[in-house]
Amino acid sequence: MTPASPDGSFPERNRRDAERDAEPDAFEARFDERYDAKALRRMFGAFATGVTVLTCGGARPHGMTANSFSSVSLDPPLVLVCVDRDAVMHAALLDTEFFGVSVLAADQEKVARHFADRRRPLGMAQFDAIDWEPGECTGVPLVADALASFECRRWRGYDGGDHTIFVGRLLAASRRDPDALVFHDGRFRRLSPEPTQVPL
Ligand SMILES: Cc1cc2nc3c(=O)[nH]c(=O)nc-3n(C[C@H](O)[C@H](O)[C@H](O)COP(=O)(O)O)c2cc1C
Repeated sequence: MTPASPDGSFPERNRRDAERDAEPDAFEARFDERYDAKALRRMFGAFATGVTVLTCGGARPHGMTANSFSSVSLDPPLVLVCVDRDAVMHAALLDTEFFGVSVLAADQEKVARHFADRRRPLGMAQFDAIDWEPGECTGVPLVADALASFECRRWRGYDGGDHTIFVGRLLAASRRDPDALVFHDGRFRRLSPEPTQVPL
C-alpha cells in the first residue's frame, strides 16, 4: 500500500495506481478473459446458501428454485431474489403483484430439483408433483412443510445484469423448525448428517 505523507495525503502513488486510474476497463477485460461462466459459478459456489422455491399464482402460476434469496430490511420488512431475465419466472413475476418464497427443509431436495428442472410442466400442473397450500394472505402456492414461508407484494425491481433483483414487501410469514436444505459448491447438502454427495 502507498504510504501516507504526514498531512495524510498519498503523494507517492505507485505505477499500479496510475494504471488503474488510466485504464479501469483493462481490469474488467482481464477479469472477463480469466473467468467464463463456468469459472464464475465455481467462485460464487463458495458461498453456502439455503434453498428456496419462488412461486406466483394468479393468471400465470409458476414456481422456480432460487438460492439468491436474501433478507434486506426489517423496517419496512423487505426480502430480495435475483431472477434470470430468460427464466419463465421472470415474465411471470412481471405479470403479478404477489409472490411467495418457501425456504426448503433438509428433506425437500426433490422439490428443489423439480422446480429447477426446465422439463417440468408449466402452469398449475407443475405443482401436482409436490404438496402445496395456498398462502393465507395472497393465495400464492407455498410448498407444504417448508422451513419458512413468506408472502410478498412486489415492491421494486432493479437491474442486475442478466438477472433482475426483485424486492418484495412482506405481507405474511411463518416458520417451522426442521433442518435447512443447504446448497454449496453445486451440491445440495444437509447441515446434519453428512452431505448427500449427489452431484446436480
Ligand atoms: C440450487 C439452485 C438455485 C438456483 N437459484 C436461482 C436463482 O436464484 N435465480 C435464478 O434465476 N435461477 C436459479 N436457479 C436456476 C433455476 O431454478 C432454473 O433455471 C429453472 O429451471 C428456471 O425455471 P423457469 O425458466 O421455468 O422459471 C437455481 C437452480 C438451483 C438448482
